[in-house]
Amino acid sequence: MTADQSARPWLDPDRSTTERVELLLAQMTLAEKVGQTHQVANIHPDDDAAQLAGGQIGSSLFASGATGGNERDEGVLAANIDAAQRHAVEASRLGIPVLFGRDVIHGHRTVCPIPLGLAASFDVGLVEEVAAVAAAEAVVDGVAWTFAPMVDLSEEPRWGRVAESLGETPVLSGRLAAAIVKGFQSDDPSDPDHIAACAKHFAGYGLSAGGRDYDTVSVGENTLRNLHLRPFKAAVDAGVATIMAAFNDVDGTPMHAHRHLLRDVLKGEWGFDGVVVADWNGIGQLVHQGVAADLRAAALLAIEAGVDLDMCSGSYAAHLAELVESGEVDEALVDDAVRRLLTLKFRLGLFDRPYVGEPIRSNAPTDASRATALRAAHAAHVLVSNNGILPLAPGAGTVHLTGPYAEAAEELFGTWTLDGRGEDVVAPATAFRARLGGEQLLVSDGRFSDRSVQQVRNADVTVAVVGEHPWRSGEANSVTDIGLPAGQLEHLRQLSRIGKPLVVVVYTGRPLELGDVLDLADAVLVVWHPGVEAGNALADIVFGDVAPHGRLPMTFPRTTGHIPTSTHQRPTGRLIELHEEGRQGRYLDDQVFPRLPFGYGLTYTSFEYGELRTVGGTELSGAGEVVVEIDVTNTGDRAGREVVQLSFRDPVAQVTRPLVELVDWAFLDLAPGEKGTASFTVRADQFAYFGTDNTSRVDAGEIVLVAGPDALHGSRLSLRVNP
Ligand code: BGC
Repeated sequence: MTADQSARPWLDPDRSTTERVELLLAQMTLAEKVGQTHQVANIHPDDDAAQLAGGQIGSSLFASGATGGNERDEGVLAANIDAAQRHAVEASRLGIPVLFGRDVIHGHRTVCPIPLGLAASFDVGLVEEVAAVAAAEAVVDGVAWTFAPMVDLSEEPRWGRVAESLGETPVLSGRLAAAIVKGFQSDDPSDPDHIAACAKHFAGYGLSAGGRDYDTVSVGENTLRNLHLRPFKAAVDAGVATIMAAFNDVDGTPMHAHRHLLRDVLKGEWGFDGVVVADWNGIGQLVHQGVAADLRAAALLAIEAGVDLDMCSGSYAAHLAELVESGEVDEALVDDAVRRLLTLKFRLGLFDRPYVGEPIRSNAPTDASRATALRAAHAAHVLVSNNGILPLAPGAGTVHLTGPYAEAAEELFGTWTLDGRGEDVVAPATAFRARLGGEQLLVSDGRFSDRSVQQVRNADVTVAVVGEHPWRSGEANSVTDIGLPAGQLEHLRQLSRIGKPLVVVVYTGRPLELGDVLDLADAVLVVWHPGVEAGNALADIVFGDVAPHGRLPMTFPRTTGHIPTSTHQRPTGRLIELHEEGRQGRYLDDQVFPRLPFGYGLTYTSFEYGELRTVGGTELSGAGEVVVEIDVTNTGDRAGREVVQLSFRDPVAQVTRPLVELVDWAFLDLAPGEKGTASFTVRADQFAYFGTDNTSRVDAGEIVLVAGPDALHGSRLSLRVNP
């Protein structure tokens, strides 16, 4: 044992984490404990030196503002981190290191597709790899903790934050969330190439009224448990280190004061032993929400509810000690929060390696990180219509590339890109030029739509890259109309009027109303915001080196007026099938079917499905399993990947259950003419749900399975469950 370790026995790495935490906690004054619960933004080693040396700052995040997702800043300066850390570790009484966080959401320097685009891949392994690449780059800058994955289920495209989400359905979001947690954290969070993850925003944020960000949420506990809490549970089961509370209320109780959901459900029922962090000034906002008269009352509500770390409101730092001294807050609550925070710091290895030091390597994109970003960008391309124009045949003639994103760089990153650099982006025009040379390519960026329309005649095919600027999506960026941004549809109409083939590529952070575009284009690709490899990925897909295989992770409604719509619609007294027409209560002025259903996506070949069949009976008893299978044949003349989706419906339960819910999926990579079999193992517990008393149950009775290419189509099979 070193001298330091005998004076500070919690520094001895041979002791267990629990022992180290208790040894340290026993030494801490109330003020030092409160210091651990206080997180500040953008720490400055000089300005904050006294507070750091006084043990008054437990954590800092590097962010450019309360809606930082779309604002650029100077980046994280490792030298600043180390200088600040030195004050905390060397000048303070107990030497507790600061925990530094940053929003590393879909790549750090190597920007990959936005989370909704990653979700379109349905590819758990790929998504884990993207998170691991991001973690390895972020640690170079001294980031120890990220605020991702965002797992709010999203069925509200007006809400800008759907871009950050993993889609609308719990099983896909949950599995991808677990993969992201694993990619960021690995199995050993102290591994120097990994960082702590944070599942956010707990809970119900995706239901913000009217799609307005930060708005109120009116949802019952049963719907929360049967849908919205499930991806969080998956993240907790995957070992996520932290959970962030949501800005919204749930049925009148703001989440930062929601004792039942935070303390009883998350920490109690689920046994979550990590840190609950507030969202930015989320505790302070309890005053705006009108449940606390002042910051002191807000701090009281939040610590009682189970918020361990105060992000940027200053309420704990200002009032927690006094609340304990006055007897209003039990010190045990503060101890519990501090225990969790110290445990995280020990688990991350911060006490053993507090400094970043000289950069261990560059974190600029490498061939390997770009290869991951390219595969992720390929997988984010969802082909939603194609009359055969795609892929463009070799010798297809002159290509006219037009639209606001033809030469775009940073715009293709999407929301929440704090550390990517525009110079790392391969723009569509750059990639097309590299492939076609100057002669066969005309580029008009669409700024002059008259010039762009004129060029259509000079080319054999026009590829129009349109869609949303990233600042139209993400935090605080809601819209009342999910049509294309102003002027784009008119431009596309003009381009199509000439009668030459038109391919439309839509970069977007949300589902858009695409009906008219689908009607006028020969092919439409929905690509989300794809990151540094945007152009290369698009060229690979358009020219057929890679076949698109992404699937929509959110339903695309027909119009804004159809929102909300998702696969999780539940049966009403007058509706028995998903989106069934012709029943009372449907819209008078439009069809109710979504324009593009969840799970939809084409590729360059076609598939024929057989009938769903069971191997070994239709009875699911106890913990037993049944294997169900479906044959799929590639009926086209190109190889292709089919994403076979298995959904289910529980026709009779204690509560109304979704008309369609994804339960599993499988990839089949098939050569032309090849027949493959998608095989799924199902267990009764996959059909468990929360009943009228909000406890989990599996009922005896029928479960209808549906296997097909998307949420609306498929072959059915009934199983009998005998729990
Ligand atoms: C967002 C969070 C984010 C935090 C820190 C908040 O405004 O809601 O998602 O992690 O800021 O930047």
